[in-house]
Amino acid sequence: MNDSPLLLSIAVLGGTGREGKGLAYRWAKVGYHVFIGSRSPDKAKAAAQELWKMLAGNALVEGLSNQEAAQKADIVVLTVPYAAHRETLESVKDLLKGKLLIDVTVPITPPKVTKVQMPPAGSAAQEAKQILGEGSEVAAAFQNISHEHLLQDQDVDCDVLVTGTSKDARNETLKLVSAAGLTGWDAGPIENSVILEGLTSVLININKQYGSTHAGIKITGVNKT
Ligand SMILES: NC(=O)c1ccc[n+]([C@@H]2O[C@H](COP(=O)([O-])OP(=O)(O)OC[C@H]3O[C@@H](n4cnc5c(N)ncnc54)[C@H](OP(=O)(O)O)[C@@H]3O)[C@@H](O)[C@H]2O)c1
Repeated sequence: MNDSPLLLSIAVLGGTGREGKGLAYRWAKVGYHVFIGSRSPDKAKAAAQELWKMLAGNALVEGLSNQEAAQKADIVVLTVPYAAHRETLESVKDLLKGKLLIDVTVPITPPKVTKVQMPPAGSAAQEAKQILGEGSEVAAAFQNISHEHLLQDQDVDCDVLVTGTSKDARNETLKLVSAAGLTGWDAGPIENSVILEGLTSVLININKQYGSTHAGIKITGVNKT
């Protein structure tokens, strides 16, 4: 992992979608070089252009294929539906060597989104670690942040719990959480991602029952210094 004081570049695979585009917006806004990845480079370019315009041209944001984006960036963020998780990871696996993967995927398959559905690996993030193999660094984050919060400039009143395969992986991810204007917490090893991914179904359930669209969570009882 990179200790450079310069801002790292970030690829957002599936960054044409709701969650990925929102994260890309927030990172591009604070000066990160963001590569939007897609199965279709044209679609990625259109998404990048949209963000560039939203940021009045003050942004380094490019649209590329998922593979080119993964190759060019220092850190790779995965924001695709679970149905595309394995296939997307397999398609970039060789390009991720030595790079941190931040997995945002929640292993739910519509229409059963209000019920926790965990894969045999334990969680999507643990499955990502299995796919990428020994030596890979994977963090899991943002599963509990609705996309509705991201593509705008208001403060977000919910926290991001970060798990990962190492303290370095979690710290690097926490920097990006903070850069996105969110409050992050180190939630421990990647095995704990099962709770955070599962929590998304609980939040969707709450949204449905109480007529909301963006329920979130907040950690209380801790003084952050
Ligand atoms: N939406 C939220 O509020 C939210 C919140 C927390 C976590 N998440 C998680 O974040 C991930 C992305 O959610 P999203 O709502 O952003 O999803 P989305 O908008 O439906 O899809 C994101 C992108 O994934 C790619 N994609 C879609 N279907 C695919 C397929 N079958 N094969 C390969 N690529 C495919 C598409 O990119 P291209 O067509 O450009 O390749 C699409 O733009 C999911 O795992 C979700 O559970 C979402």
